Amino acid sequence: MGSHILITGGCGFIGTNFILHLLAKYPSIRITNVDALTYAGNLENLKSIEQDTRYSFRNASIENLEGMQAIFNEVKPDVVVHFAAESHVDRSISDGRPFIISNVLGTQTLLDCAKAHGVSKFVHVSTDEVYGTLGEEGVFTEETPLTPNSPYSASKAGSDLVVRSYYETFHMPCVITRCSNNYGPYQFPEKLIPLMISKASQNLPLPVYGNGLNVRDWIHVSDHCHGVELAMLYGKPGEVYNLGGESERRNIDIVTQILKIMNKPDSLITYVQDRPGHDFRYAMGIDKARRELGFEPKYTFENGLKETVEWYLSQQEWLDSITSGEYRHYYDKHYGGQR
Ligand code: NAD
Ligand code: DAU
Repeated sequence: MGSHILITGGCGFIGTNFILHLLAKYPSIRITNVDALTYAGNLENLKSIEQDTRYSFRNASIENLEGMQAIFNEVKPDVVVHFAAESHVDRSISDGRPFIISNVLGTQTLLDCAKAHGVSKFVHVSTDEVYGTLGEEGVFTEETPLTPNSPYSASKAGSDLVVRSYYETFHMPCVITRCSNNYGPYQFPEKLIPLMISKASQNLPLPVYGNGLNVRDWIHVSDHCHGVELAMLYGKPGEVYNLGGESERRNIDIVTQILKIMNKPDSLITYVQDRPGHDFRYAMGIDKARRELGFEPKYTFENGLKETVEWYLSQQEWLDSITSGEYRHYYDKHYGGQR
């Protein structure tokens, strides 16, 4: 693949994994990573490719129209893969405003730039949370109505609808992927799995919301990246593709499993106040992606979780740098403070 791909949010968890995946797989690809380096963006994740001439970084906010127009004019990307977003449900409950600005206005701004530039594909990376919550039975399909319950998922549903409208109105070649809960290397330790690993490694209490019986459907980040790659290559404009790992687990079972892998006592588990509006269960039906994109998750949850625990335990410096806030100075140190 010789295309120039503009990736947004490449310093976050999934974007980092996606960039490393593409550069390892496609020798003549070119990538521009656009990221605002919010608290969730860690430029140090991509230290190993800083000198790679196929890769470049732009520190910019996607909702800034002039800034984005300048980047599009300079880079002239063939394809956009859009990961950048405020992504944490609990933060959206504390303050929904940045979610509307980055996720809704940011997506609309990017779409305008991509439209003016005439890209051949715009992949919008979305989430199963736009479908709301399930009871004990059933799975989400691409036809499930959008009924988001948190300010985060409402902002993602809003962005999905804006993307849809640019396909319907302007015939832009947009594809939407919706994925279930990711886990794996480089996830910010505010999310369930890295948070629990980090707490357990310090023998601190592990905060489980409510009764711990809420269910999430887990996918290893490398399987998600492969799904987004397939959508970028083969996704049909105007279509939505659900992605997931077909691995439903109750939160409490995951926390117990992490403690077991780490040889720590269950007494570290502490039940805390539930998340307001806490969705009970997510489960992704992935038949369409299987059939139309050839998508197949490779990881079993048990192997993936063990590998993930080992990765975090071997990356104590990375974890310490996040806990202390040191990672936020990396940009200034390495780019001479020019923003
Ligand atoms: P993340 O929070 O780890 O990373 C988000 C990245 O986007 C950060 O690098 C941040 O600096 C950047 N960013 C945020 N606002 C920006 C803005 N206004 N302009 C430019 N950059 C900005 O998120 P993640 O977990 O990697 O998720 C990436 C995408 O995948 C999001 O769109 C999210 O909704 C979606 N998604 C995530 C999951 C999951 O389990 N993590 C599952 C399904 C879908
Ligand atoms: O489903 C996809 C979504 O998964 C993505 O769109 C989001 O960006 C991503 O953050 C994630 O959302 P969740 O809310 O499901 O993930 P989180 O890791 O915050 O929580 C997972 C479950 O664990 C959820 O039921 C709440 C619970 N939890 C979470 C935290 C942080 C706890 O019990 N204790 C905690 O401390």
